[in-house]
Amino acid sequence: MEDKKVVLITGASRGIGKEIAKKFAKNDYNLIINYISENTDLEELEKELKYNGNEILFVKGNVANYSECEEMVKQAIEKFGKIDVLVNNAGITRDGLLMRMKEEDFDSVINVNLKGVFNMTKNVIPYMMKKKSGKIVSISSVVGVVGNAGQTNYSASKAGIIGFTKSLAKECASRNIYVNAVAPGFIQTDMTSVLKDDVKESIGAQIPLKRMGTAEEVAKVVYFLSSDESSYITGQVINVDGGMVM
Ligand code: NAI
Repeated sequence: MEDKKVVLITGASRGIGKEIAKKFAKNDYNLIINYISENTDLEELEKELKYNGNEILFVKGNVANYSECEEMVKQAIEKFGKIDVLVNNAGITRDGLLMRMKEEDFDSVINVNLKGVFNMTKNVIPYMMKKKSGKIVSISSVVGVVGNAGQTNYSASKAGIIGFTKSLAKECASRNIYVNAVAPGFIQTDMTSVLKDDVKESIGAQIPLKRMGTAEEVAKVVYFLSSDESSYITGQVINVDGGMVM
């Protein structure tokens, strides 16, 4: 039986995560798709992600919950016996100026965006250690690099991912496990569709390429960092932002 590579992607039912899943599917990977919402149309999603007879395992769970992550990874290993690539993509925003930010808005963003990366990585890494290979790519954000008013919680979580990534890259390099982060700028998805038009315009004006990015443009870089094409890159944060931060 042909041994396809296996990728696990969190928050992959829509947006950037779904585009990442498509990119891997087109490149002959079996997929483990994490989703959280009861309302996810799995049949429709399966149709969108089916390429060349790949196998798809859907695992429902909240990345902020350690035991749910443990269970999702267990199911993945039972089905495929290995995980070659982990993409930590799931993320949320609860924006507001610090003066008005509720404690629960801080906690929930840190728990999903940062603790979620720990929960998934901690459960996946023993399997990568054992086979002495693996690629981990986490989705940070340019605001984790430069900060953004109204996003202390989100920026802290995304900056935390960068510190996590660099430290783990150092821990695991000798085991041939690569750990990198991608920092998208302003990407067209449900997350940004809630912004008002004037906000979108003013952000757009600060981007040298003068447009928002697409989820596909992020997916391409995630795939590159998961492939052999990036065999001398670890511990890095790659901005995909049309030149917004340089
Ligand atoms: P989105 O809101 O469309 O997708 C986020 C996904 O994460 C959804 O599928 C959602 O169900 C899932 N999710 C949320 N909480 C979860 C949890 N507790 N457990 C499991 N899954 C959960 O957003 P988008 O834009 O596709 O974002 C994907 C990633 O990219 C996020 O980490 C986000 O912070 C990051 N990002 C997005 C940017 C943008 O401009 N859209 C810019 C920079 C970073």
